[in-house]
Amino acid sequence: MNQLKDLEIIPTRKALGAEVKGIDFSLPLPENIRSFLVEQWSKHLVLLFRNQELTQEQHINATKVFGEIQISAAKAYHTAAREKEVMTADYPEISVVHNLDKNGNPVMNNNSLGSGEVYWHSDNSYIETPPSGSMLYARIIPPHGGNTCFSNQYLAYETLPNNILKVIEGKTAIHDSSRDGANVARPGVKVPTNISEVLGPHHPIVQIHPLTRKKALYLGRRRKYPSQYIDGITEEESTQILDFLWNHATKQEFVWCHNWKVGDLLFWDNRCTMHYRAAHDKHYKRVLHRILIKGEKPIPSNKPKA
Ligand code: OGA
Ligand code: MN
Repeated sequence: MNQLKDLEIIPTRKALGAEVKGIDFSLPLPENIRSFLVEQWSKHLVLLFRNQELTQEQHINATKVFGEIQISAAKAYHTAAREKEVMTADYPEISVVHNLDKNGNPVMNNNSLGSGEVYWHSDNSYIETPPSGSMLYARIIPPHGGNTCFSNQYLAYETLPNNILKVIEGKTAIHDSSRDGANVARPGVKVPTNISEVLGPHHPIVQIHPLTRKKALYLGRRRKYPSQYIDGITEEESTQILDFLWNHATKQEFVWCHNWKVGDLLFWDNRCTMHYRAAHDKHYKRVLHRILIKGEKPIPSNKPKA
């Protein structure tokens, strides 16, 4: 374990993702393995490590292999609204993604992500400096359903038609912070009733990945209208273009879905992928632990020369 000669990289043969065999994050990791894993992360965008048996500390240490930890922005909303999260881990670095009520019973809706669909998004894109990566570790998984799907946003960018590229390159869009991935309003937040009430950072629609220097489409999140819009064009045009972009960015040909088992550790890049979770039977518990890695402000790609 944890030596270059033991490592095996098994690409999904879909648009992104690879399983890495030969790593045990409960054991020390030599520096050459660390840099190798960072390279593989840049190459495959999502890495899967199976059969990890990790304490919360070991999960934190596994995440630190790839960078510095960032605390999820969702926590601040709970604190500000003086609303307790239903379930917390022993460390603030860890967010618990679960479908339990305060008695520990599985339910459809709660103040985590519940049992329903979690719409396509990139983690914490609703803050100025979104996390570069997310490390999600499966502790309790239902017998079926609840797959997490990822979409390759380099490919989404590279396959855009020219007329759309001309409009979006060099432009920004707002990333609506009012509702979470389950479309639930964040604690203490008013859901916008018109476009001028939408709050959130304005990020470049096309961003340059700081490691690979490749361009990726960066849509982040869009909820029920009024929500995301593109700056500097009419609202009508923005809606049309966003409809096109969201449909394009989540096409099957760019997607790979992961079917979870307990002990799976999935590590993805938020700058060049989006993810989605399918619904699952609300009668079964589902509990995962998530840790984020600090990123930098998204780097805009330049407007093309006229
Ligand atoms: C997340 C997320 C989906 C899932 O933790 O950021 O989107 O599969 N989770 O639970
Ligand atoms: Mn997410």
